[in-house]
Amino acid sequence: MDEIIEKLNFLKKEKNAVILAHIYQLPEIHDIADFVGDSLDLSRKAAQTDADVIVFCGVHFMAETASILSPNKKVLIPDANAGCPMADMITAEKLRKFKSKYKNPVVVAYVNTSVAVKAESDICCTSSNAVNVVKSAAADKTDGSRDIIFVPDRNLGGYVQQMSGIKMNIGNGFCPTHNNLILPEYVYKAKEEHPQAEVLVHPECRSEVISLADQIMSTGAMCRYVEKSNVKEFIIGTETGILYKLKKDNPDKNFYPISFLSVCPNMKKITIAKVLDVLINMKNIVSVSEDIRQKAYIPILKMLKISAQA
Ligand code: 13P
Ligand code: SF4
Repeated sequence: MDEIIEKLNFLKKEKNAVILAHIYQLPEIHDIADFVGDSLDLSRKAAQTDADVIVFCGVHFMAETASILSPNKKVLIPDANAGCPMADMITAEKLRKFKSKYKNPVVVAYVNTSVAVKAESDICCTSSNAVNVVKSAAADKTDGSRDIIFVPDRNLGGYVQQMSGIKMNIGNGFCPTHNNLILPEYVYKAKEEHPQAEVLVHPECRSEVISLADQIMSTGAMCRYVEKSNVKEFIIGTETGILYKLKKDNPDKNFYPISFLSVCPNMKKITIAKVLDVLINMKNIVSVSEDIRQKAYIPILKMLKISAQA
């Protein structure tokens, strides 16, 4: 392992590369990354870095967002097949059809979407800023009659609608990991086993799970919340990759997943061997054609501006 890390450090210097990793990545990736964060933090980092090469350890839409924000940098994804099934649940064609049902709608696209879907949208959001983004989209309506479309996640959309009181037309997408593998009966069981623990869940979970939680937050917000809290035990409702970071940053606290089954197989496709491979061979470059990139850049930039104000 030491040899691999030595080689990685050499290549990073030689190529002026930075390794960005999502919180759901394997422990071996957390340990070699220059920065580990949620999807909003990662897009901010990608926009700010002065590296020439970004090795993006996450799923495809995240690397694509980095490439949209930094067209002059080479963005490499260690496994080109690391996709996001939720992002695949809405295509540009499906979105155009959805839009055609309304007169001049405002489209809010979760960042878990393809560049083509973003190019059809007015503003993006992540799980950490979705409520503020939707409030701003509602305030921005030139007249009271513009409908708001929210795609693709029905769970995040439903949660935002409840928190903001703003009525939206929500897509029917979902995350298989959060929606299918984190269930209310598991929450009851975890609470019974750990009655002192606070329950934190991601807004991609189904509403029956969200209603049982003490806090609903993005992965990055969970990490920040736990560090500041005086509570010593937490039940965690999101992808299990977060547990490594939580324990590493808070060795005196205990974390119990609602379910050990809540794994995102795509996030786990990235390994240290693949990181090394793409850096040596400069392969798996994520590229976006310039005309569509320019269109997708606008809703992402709008989101980043709102997040900077929050
Ligand atoms: P975060 O915005 O919390 O990083 O979540 C991204 C994601 O894909 C959750 O499944
Ligand atoms: Fe997509 Fe779900 Fe995996 Fe997140 S956890 S990347 S939403 S499949």
